[in-house]
Amino acid sequence: MRTRVAIIGAGPAGLMLAHLLHLAGIDSVVLEDRSREYIERRVRAGVLEHPTVELLRECGVADRLDREGMVHHGVVLRFDGADHRVGLTDLTGRSITVYGQQEVVKDLVAARLATGRPILFEVADVALHDLETDAPSVTFRHADGSPGRIDCDFVAGCDGYHGVSRPSVPEGVLRVYEHTYPYAWLGVLARAAPSHPELIYSAHERGFALHSMRSPEVTRLYLQVAPDEPLADWPERRIWDELGRRLAVDGFTLNEGPLIETSVAAMRSFVVEPMRHGRLFLAGDAAHIVPATGAKGMNLAIADVRRLAAAIAAYAADGRTDLLDGYSDACLRRVWRAQHFSWWMTSMVHLPPDADPFSERLRRAQLHYVAASPAAARSLAENYVGLPFEGADEQGWYEGR
Ligand code: APR
Ligand code: PHB
Repeated sequence: MRTRVAIIGAGPAGLMLAHLLHLAGIDSVVLEDRSREYIERRVRAGVLEHPTVELLRECGVADRLDREGMVHHGVVLRFDGADHRVGLTDLTGRSITVYGQQEVVKDLVAARLATGRPILFEVADVALHDLETDAPSVTFRHADGSPGRIDCDFVAGCDGYHGVSRPSVPEGVLRVYEHTYPYAWLGVLARAAPSHPELIYSAHERGFALHSMRSPEVTRLYLQVAPDEPLADWPERRIWDELGRRLAVDGFTLNEGPLIETSVAAMRSFVVEPMRHGRLFLAGDAAHIVPATGAKGMNLAIADVRRLAAAIAAYAADGRTDLLDGYSDACLRRVWRAQHFSWWMTSMVHLPPDADPFSERLRRAQLHYVAASPAAARSLAENYVGLPFEGADEQGWYEGR
């Protein structure tokens, strides 16, 4: 098989890249090692930034998102038994949309299949070759075990943190930046109506808790737990009791219901530089991980591939290589902004297991500042709703928005 771009991975990054390339008239093949059913059911993140929503609309894949997505104009910071609302729309003129990552994946898979262009599920043994030449290739096994090979101009490594793309880069080429946090999130999906119309970030003395949602019937909730927390220690009753304690304020009732899904996710920051090696371009979780607190993971993946599609399109149209050459630096500026925001937000709302009294006072001072100062709240809000794809690192841009 010959194609312009071999895309490894059918998460938000790979699927969105495939769609953007299709709109530019560029052919690609998507290789995914899981089944369609699996990727469409996997519960992940759920907050879409304003620029992400706009892009999905521009690309014609937002019909269901516009019908079913829940538009939010603010989020709540809860601490010391009281609520402090950050008015996202009042502060920035923008909003966020709550819509599950697997719903985005379903919409993009449907869009891909409608184009008739190839997407291969349940492939195995994916291997990347000749990345340092202008004729790279990818070998793999089809779902039926037969061998496959794709010759291409570019390989897009969109295969997440555990994929094969990043490890295909020779030792010593990539610089790795890593930070681990001394806690994890126990996440549950409950068949229960949300208990509040907005997301609630609760910085409680027993640890952080988050109230989020997926639909008017389904609530998404998280509890800060130890990094190595065994799920088995958390029977349903204990989860609800702890959520009830950490989310308690006067006048608030937590709606309970059957748990549909339960999992523990580590909190970590990870970035590799550069996001390119020869003809291999890394995008999304393959190149960077952010802690979930800022809800930036899926949005960063989409921002990367928007840039990558534009760079490949410029090359295909008239041989321009400047956008390909600038891809990594341009992405990394947004990645590091999001990395800082996610670290800041994470540090502000979690209780470190080894909390020293001085650091705890600083953390409280920051919570009070964001709650009281429109300037501080606006900084949170403009990062939360998502910085625009272009211009956010240019002088004068922030004031002018
Ligand atoms: N070959 C083919 N496909 C692979 C391979 C492989 N060797 N390894 C992994 N994959 C697939 C995975 O099964 C998955 O479907 O690549 C896809 C990667 O998708 P994601 O992990 O969703 O990564 P990305 O598209 O970058 O989206 C980032 O995912 O983890 C969340 O919070 C994160 O929201 C963010 C988003
Ligand atoms: C979610 O709904 O899954 C969610 C919401 C907000 C976050 C993280 C996750 O900050």
